[in-house]
Amino acid sequence: MIISYFLTLNFKRVICLYITTAPSTSAAHYEEPTTPGPSFPSPCLLRTIHMLEYNIVIINLLYKVCETKDINNNAMKSFVIDTNNDILIGKINCKMFACKNYCPHRAALLSKGQLKPNENKIACYMHGFEYNVFTGKLESIPNKWISQSEGWKKSEELVLYDVIEKEDGSVFVNI
Ligand code: FES
Repeated sequence: MIISYFLTLNFKRVICLYITTAPSTSAAHYEEPTTPGPSFPSPCLLRTIHMLEYNIVIINLLYKVCETKDINNNAMKSFVIDTNNDILIGKINCKMFACKNYCPHRAALLSKGQLKPNENKIACYMHGFEYNVFTGKLESIPNKWISQSEGWKKSEELVLYDVIEKEDGSVFVNI
């Protein structure tokens, strides 16, 4: 059985603890931080959880980035959250996506690029590489770069984040 706890810690941040009552066989144990920062639940709370002999399987940090209404359909917008992460959030056919706002080819800002809703792609403004915003995969490179070396054309995939839309219209990303 899995229980999710959402603890509102401050205006923008929520910590989500997935806790299971299964026996302690998993290697994925959470170690209480020795110097907990303001973003962690109180040591008192963590101790309570340990006393109940629950295993904490996953701890995810969810950041509130914006409201659903802030992102128009078939459009995108960038946000800098309090971890200094620059995040791009967009919506294609009412489905949201989120990724790092840096092109994995040469780190140009993706928010300067062009969203192609019919193809689920974003085209980077710098060299025109096109990435699928839902899979992160590089899908095409403009023909003009065909003679460039393989090393130059090499690119990682987009760094994608899960997007969670809550009923009250808040949009969170899972960093
Ligand atoms: S930096 Fe984006 S395609 Fe080269």
